[in-house]
This record gives sequence, C-alpha cells and structure tokens, in this order.
Amino acid sequence: MGNGGVMVVRGARVIDPYRQIDSRDEDVWIADGHIVSPAQAVSPSVVVNASHLWLVPRLIDMHVHFREPGQTWKETIATGSRAAAHGGIVAVAAMPNTEPVVDTPELVEWVQHRGQAVGLVRVLPLGAITVGSRGEELADLYRMHQAGAVGFSDDGNPVSSAAMMRAALSYARTLPAAVINHAQERSLSEGGVVHEGRCAHRLGLAGMPEVAESSMVWRDVLLAGLTGGRLHEAHLSTMASVEAIGYAKQHHYRVTAEVTPHHLLLNEEVLLQWGYDPVTKVNPPIRPEATRQALLKAVQSGLIDVLASDHAPHHDDDKAKPYPEAPFGISGLETIVAALMTALVQPGCMSPLEAFGLMTTGPDRVLGLGFPGLRAGALADLTLIDPQKVWTVDPDRFYSLGHNTPLAGMQLRGQALATMVGGQWTMQEGEVLDAGLFAVS
Ligand code: DOR
Repeated sequence: MGNGGVMVVRGARVIDPYRQIDSRDEDVWIADGHIVSPAQAVSPSVVVNASHLWLVPRLIDMHVHFREPGQTWKETIATGSRAAAHGGIVAVAAMPNTEPVVDTPELVEWVQHRGQAVGLVRVLPLGAITVGSRGEELADLYRMHQAGAVGFSDDGNPVSSAAMMRAALSYARTLPAAVINHAQERSLSEGGVVHEGRCAHRLGLAGMPEVAESSMVWRDVLLAGLTGGRLHEAHLSTMASVEAIGYAKQHHYRVTAEVTPHHLLLNEEVLLQWGYDPVTKVNPPIRPEATRQALLKAVQSGLIDVLASDHAPHHDDDKAKPYPEAPFGISGLETIVAALMTALVQPGCMSPLEAFGLMTTGPDRVLGLGFPGLRAGALADLTLIDPQKVWTVDPDRFYSLGHNTPLAGMQLRGQALATMVGGQWTMQEGEVLDAGLFAVS
C-alpha cells in the first residue's frame, strides 16, 4: 500500500495486550502508516480479508544478536532484519556484543541508522554496560541513552564484579533505562558447555550447574533493591533464578525477567538426540525437564515479563567444530512466534492475550517504548498469524545466515503470515518484501 491509500483488515481475531482486547469484531483501518478510526477513514482502496487469522500489535524480540559491525559472515543487520520480518517481528533490541562492541554513542547511532536504511524492522540498539563489555570500566550510559540506546547489556558476558553491577544500576537509575544482565558466575561455569547433569555425564561433556546462574541472579536482585535501579535478567533458565525474581517482585524492586523459547520447548534429553552436534550448544544451556516445567509455571503465574529469542546466529563452519570448541547460540527469530503458540497457547498454559503480552507490552515496558497498541494515531505495526498452521522447522528456509537450531525437524503449530511495519508489509505469506521500506518516525 502506498502512502495516501486506505487499507482495512477485516475479520481477524484482534489480540491487543496494550488495550487488553481479544475481539473478533474489530476491523483495523490503516492510512498514512498509522491506525485510523473507521470514522476518519474514507472508502478503503485495499481490503484484506483476514478471517481465520489472528492480528497482534508490534511484536518485539528484545534479545537478538545481529553481529554487525564486525562479524558479517554470521549475520548482518540486513539479513537479521529479513529474518525478523519472516518471523513476524516488527521491532528488535540488538545486543551490543559485536566487533567492536557498541559502547559509544557513535556506534549506537550507527546501528540505528543501518537498521533504518534496511527498513524491514525497527532496530533498537542496546549499549554495553562496560567499555568493551570487559567488566572493568562503566561505559558512557548517559550519552548512549541520549543517542538512542534503549537499555544496556554486556550479554555474552556477565557483569562479574558486584561493585560494577552496583555502579551500573545506580547510574541507570538516573535514566529511564534498564540494565540487562547475562547472569553467570564464571568461577562456576568456566569450561562448561552443557547443563551439568545426567546427559552431560553420558556424553562426557563438561557441565555448568544451575547455581552458576541463580547465585548471580540473587546478587543482582539484592543490588536492584539496594540501588533502586532497573534490572532486567536475560534468558533465565533455573528454578532458583525464578525464585529470586519472585522475591524481587514481592519487595517491589524494579526487576523484570525474560525466558527463551528453547528453554520452554526443550529439555536436556535433546543432547542425546543430537549427540555431539553443537546445534544444541547454547548459553545458558538447555536444562532438565523439571526445570523446564518450573519455567513454564513461572511464565504462567505472571512472574516472567518477556519471551525473547536470544537469536544467536553462527556460521555453519563454526557450528561444525567439535562440541567443546563450537560457539554457543541458537538462531531463533524465525521460530519464536510458533514457539510461543506451541509452548504456551496451544497447551492452554496461557490465553493468547497473556502469551502475546510477553512479546508486546512486556518488552515495551522494559525498553520504555510507550507504544499505545492498535488505537487511532498509533503506527501501523502489526502481524497476522495463522493459528492453525502446522509446519516443520527447516533451517534451510531461514532468511537468517544462521541455520543453527535444535528445533530443526520439530513440528510447531502457528505461523506468522504477514508482517507490517509503519503501514508497509515487510513479509507476506512467508516472502520478505525487501522493497517495503517504511517511513521511520
Ligand atoms: O548462546 C549464546 N550466544 N548466549 C549468549 O549469551 C551469547 C550468544 C552469542 O552472542 O552468540
């Protein structure tokens, strides 16, 4: 649809967590890149019949690795943006563990501009907490925030020093932005490549115990209480981590938490299925079934704010290395919507409204975006989903350069069918529309 035209999407089940609406009786009118009220709209030049489909506002994946600048053989902002559009995603927060690390306002602007130039997804940069993510010296959080950073993270590396974490949380308190930690006590996890447990022993691979993560999550939570700073814990994968988040919320600390699709869909038995193929190698590692169940329960109870993919694409050659040497990471942008539907909605663990809150209102609040939902005047950022579609994950069909996923071959239910950013379709029926440049505002 060109600017000036009026479009109406008819008949969809509109699931809008921003307005707490789940309705089959709402038509969505779009003009000049925005949602308009039917009263404002003249006769539509385009009518989209979306009966049988679900329509959700601005899906956000707030944890992705786009590898640019620096490691463009793994992913670029262009290929990552295509993967996002293909996956039904409208906005991403890009982790700063690139080469160089995004730890200056200039680099924050560079990532933002590159995302806008590609124009397929809203690329929201995250800045590093410490210079070079080395954990030694606080980066210039204020100037990065001024330049457009929506939060701060050394993801890939934990902030090992408690004093540094305290300083980061205290500093971030003066900004409307969260400190996002990859919690892992290195002295306990170093050398580990999988979860420390039965499957690690069977395969003779070095393990990482759950306490490596949860001890740091507890530390961070207590520091959030001490400083009043905003803390977001990335990719939680242990029971005691979840308990720490419960403690924080009981005490009204400014703490939020995230889980990934792979920790909700898989348990450590997947290691036996794939053997020594590092496609299962991810940090934090895939945990035992009891932990997976505890994570599902935590999500169901409302303790978890965000579902994010931790999209970590790697080159096939890197993932072809022996298990201990291969890099950690799963390519997740093109399966996250289906994973949410399969793990949470289809089994009745959550209502669609609650489940999509994990990719809309949840991350919107953590990043301070203030999107109003699908009401007149809002940007026309939305996704159409076929809730019945059953499909088999085939990484060869990914737009991402990273084909590394242990979900390969798995049957999922539910699929993004079309993505719209600022009134422009960026994907339709599985095809990414590269020409769909949207007006950035
Ligand atoms: O598995 C992971 N891969 N976990 C991380 O925290 C970093 C990521 C990456 O950058 O590859």
